[in-house]
Amino acid sequence: MSSFIYSKLPQVGTTIFTVMSQLAATHNAVNLGQGFPDFPMSAELIACVTKAMQDGANQYTHMNGLPLLREQLCQKMEHLYGTPLHANDHITITPGGTYAIYTAITALLQPGDEVIVFEPCYDSYLPNIIINGGIPVTIALNANDYSIPWDEVNDKITTKTKLIIINSPHNPTGAVLQASDLQQLEAIVAQKGIFVLSDEVYEHLIFDGIAHQSVCRYPNLLQHSMAVFSFGKTYHCTGWKLGYCISTNEQWMQEFRKVHQFNVFSCNTPMQAGLAAYLQHPDAYLTLGTQMQAHRDYFQQLMQSTPLQALPSYGSYFQCYSYAHLSDMPDKEAAVYLTEQYGVATIPVSAFYANGTDNKVLRFCFAKQFATLERAVARLNDLQF
Ligand SMILES: Cc1ncc(COP(=O)(O)O)c(C=O)c1O
Repeated sequence: MSSFIYSKLPQVGTTIFTVMSQLAATHNAVNLGQGFPDFPMSAELIACVTKAMQDGANQYTHMNGLPLLREQLCQKMEHLYGTPLHANDHITITPGGTYAIYTAITALLQPGDEVIVFEPCYDSYLPNIIINGGIPVTIALNANDYSIPWDEVNDKITTKTKLIIINSPHNPTGAVLQASDLQQLEAIVAQKGIFVLSDEVYEHLIFDGIAHQSVCRYPNLLQHSMAVFSFGKTYHCTGWKLGYCISTNEQWMQEFRKVHQFNVFSCNTPMQAGLAAYLQHPDAYLTLGTQMQAHRDYFQQLMQSTPLQALPSYGSYFQCYSYAHLSDMPDKEAAVYLTEQYGVATIPVSAFYANGTDNKVLRFCFAKQFATLERAVARLNDLQF
């Protein structure tokens, strides 16, 4: 008898991030594709983790996360966003933001539930919905400024709508949600009994003095929401894969923890202990937006010497550029062309749409040392399609 595996994700291949990073390596290109910083993380945080290991914090810790770390995060969130949180009930430490997103969706969805997703979007959302038998209902963000078309959201809500996923600051566009967006969402959620998954992994990477609109600022909304955060993005250590999620909906959090319990059980103990110690220095995250804004500004200034057209970026690691005025080449081909011919790797933004919508836009990661940005842009100065 032959055995056969029926794929739960038949449409899924290797992610564009892996494809472009491999192509970058093959062509010795400057990799502005994948979203990770190339500058060193804090030596002090590394010392905190080393000390935790030396002090013996090397065994399993509490399945919901090291209690001291959860306490400190609740204080931090209350200080930043004003909503009181309880470390026992409202926060769970996870092995990264992506895991928290998957687990939140798995805990919530029943087969046939509809989930509203705004495109372009981080590429894990749709497979996470599909593998759980959910039905993604995609809505394109407004073309001019990547804002949410709220009229269309209201039109697309049905009796099966269970969840809306938001992401601010936004990957891949760098757009940010405003207070009015959160207020609209709060009204919808209250009326229709829908849940919200709020991907806030770039919460501190926000520029131009804009205040991050966390769902944690809105106590009524937070009752229906799960917010997801990533230490990797906050402390320049994406390889650590550690994050956390927050919800005051205790039922959702309990269901989350049931899935979590049998998937990973608990997360890296010394890193949690090190982070708990390092959280005593709020400047590390409070100055992050200003630091990263300097990289965005420098990159934008350098890129003015190229024929590419900048789209606005108010947060995240990313800045999108349009080449629609220069060529009709599909963006996946354009990304390969820039890597092979000019030695600069980017990500084609069509990869962030289920149907591959191609507006001739490429995503660049500016979370790089100034010298890396200079090297990349020097190669693009004489760009021609
Ligand atoms: C929007 C978004 N959400 C979640 C993540 C994942 O975060 P983590 O590395 O902590 O899993 C990323 C990483 O690129 C991201 O861009």
